[in-house]
Amino acid sequence: MADLKTDFCGVPFKNPVVIASLETTNSPDLMKQAFDYGAAGAIIKTLTDIDDMAVLTMNSKYCIMNDRGDIIKGKVPRDFKFYSRSGYSSTYYKDWIPHLKELQAYAAERGAHLIGSAGAKDVDGWKDICRTIEDCGLPMVELNFGCPHPAMMPGVHGGSMIGQNPDVAYEVTKQVCEAVDIPVMVKLTPDQSQPVAVSKAVKEAGAAAVTATNRYTGFAVDIETGEPRLGGPAGIGGTWTKPLTLRYVHNIYREVGIPIAGSNGVFDHRDVVEFLMTGADVVEVGSILMIKGMKWLPNIIKGLDRFMDEHGYADIASMRGIASNASVKDYSDQFAKSRVHANVNEQTCQNPTCNVCVQMCFYEALSQNPAGKIDVHNDKCIGCELCMDVCPFDSISMGPTTDVHYAEGYFKLPAEIYEGPDKFGTRRNNMETIEKDAPKIAAE
Ligand SMILES: Cc1cc2nc3c(=O)[nH]c(=O)nc-3n(C[C@H](O)[C@H](O)[C@H](O)COP(=O)(O)O)c2cc1C
Ligand code: SF4
Ligand code: SF4
Repeated sequence: MADLKTDFCGVPFKNPVVIASLETTNSPDLMKQAFDYGAAGAIIKTLTDIDDMAVLTMNSKYCIMNDRGDIIKGKVPRDFKFYSRSGYSSTYYKDWIPHLKELQAYAAERGAHLIGSAGAKDVDGWKDICRTIEDCGLPMVELNFGCPHPAMMPGVHGGSMIGQNPDVAYEVTKQVCEAVDIPVMVKLTPDQSQPVAVSKAVKEAGAAAVTATNRYTGFAVDIETGEPRLGGPAGIGGTWTKPLTLRYVHNIYREVGIPIAGSNGVFDHRDVVEFLMTGADVVEVGSILMIKGMKWLPNIIKGLDRFMDEHGYADIASMRGIASNASVKDYSDQFAKSRVHANVNEQTCQNPTCNVCVQMCFYEALSQNPAGKIDVHNDKCIGCELCMDVCPFDSISMGPTTDVHYAEGYFKLPAEIYEGPDKFGTRRNNMETIEKDAPKIAAE
């Protein structure tokens, strides 16, 4: 059995799965349930002194959309979009004190951790909420510099507005880190262009980790009514945001060297694995537990365990960052990689009934020959691999381009930077060939 234990900011976690700060951590009972179901940690719904953010939660709206933007009724698939609007905890942070103490003890009995979360209106508020969290015995606190909603509240300065500015993020983090002794994590916003700069700033200010990331701000339209869904802009997420978030995780892992909690886009254990392989130390699971209920959590933890056993990963450390470490550093690194070219399997290729690849190849490297087979023009094929993906009959593979191939005239990067205009010869369908091919195209 794989060892799921991991260390995060000097705090031991029994597994890397932590419940993110949201509705599922908005009451003591919900958090107890999370610990009972095996969560290694749960981050409380952000504690606040911003009245409008408490009121917003009591006006929360949620909808779940499919890939077409229609509302999903019933079973939620992997590619869901969760569009929603809610604020911070609607219970004043000082009223949480007895519950925080009790919950921390409950978590500790199960080898887990209750983690604090703060979102305040000014620096004194940030410090006071974080001190309250520390005084209740919680082992770490997350600063919510990622929430999209304060930006839509006139007069409120918080959430992503702080996380978009390295100087402000630095200042608030520094003041909090000076006020408490527990490790401070900073939750980033994806609604920004400089996550590395913000991560470096908060690291310098004393943050022990960053959380990458909170959710994007979106806008969705019901095209039947012409109305915006939920009345206007709202937070949006789902597994489709994961590659965007992973890019942030990748860059921070590579360029900042600070422990990372991954967040934004987990559906099941596969997503947890992807975050870990990109460089996260722990992974926060949020909206899918709102949608499927807390009973979904053990599937994620057991799935991770099973995946590690099946793939021979003995522990979390052996998976962490492996994809980022294997990644090219820049495009010149990418270009230096060995080149490939397309091969078409004549046995399985369905041409002339099918000509998907011919229509698609933007490099004029494919054509149909008079015998009704596909020719690959090796002097033109740059090995982009797209035809391999669009072929409905899995009839295209890539082969390595060797010196022998180059000697035969296969495509080689030109010594000069630009290609000459002689490459403009075309095999593209013009109206004449479209006419000729019309029955085939219609048959597709
Ligand atoms: C309805 C809702 C409420 C949320 N409330 C908070 C919050 O109070 N504090 C916070 O730091 N993040 C909040 N988040 C963000 C989540 O903690 C999490 O970072 C985000 O949903 C991405 O993870 P996921 O894809 O697993 O949902 C909220 C998200 C949702 C969907
Ligand atoms: S690999 Fe790219 S360039 Fe080569 S045939 Fe396929 S689509 Fe065309
Ligand atoms: S897409 Fe595949 S099956 Fe269709 S013509 Fe190209 S190689 Fe043949």
